[in-house]
Amino acid sequence: MKWYKVLDNNGLKYPFLMRAKAGNTSVCLVGADNEVYALATKCPHAGADISQGWCKDGKLVCPYHRYSYDIQTGRGSPGQGDYIKTYPVEMREDGVYVGVKSIWDIFG
Ligand code: FES
Repeated sequence: MKWYKVLDNNGLKYPFLMRAKAGNTSVCLVGADNEVYALATKCPHAGADISQGWCKDGKLVCPYHRYSYDIQTGRGSPGQGDYIKTYPVEMREDGVYVGVKSIWDIFG
């Protein structure tokens, strides 16, 4: 797994929802309750950019058809039967890092 700095952590203003790059991977960053979560930007339902959505009750809501996903686990709301990919996040002294697995990790 490779870790990428996606944000400086000084001056973070919660809550926030934004799109960022972790290497070549686009991630949707959600800042809530002094924690940062990273999820895929592509909605598993029909591929919309979910970073254009919003958060409600601990869930990330897609702007297209309003499917919603738990920001911690990625689990879709009841009845959807789907998940959105989540990425590990580390709050380090110099910033917020997101871990992305590469194809080489399976050989490592
Ligand atoms: S594309 Fe996201 S809910 Fe349909």
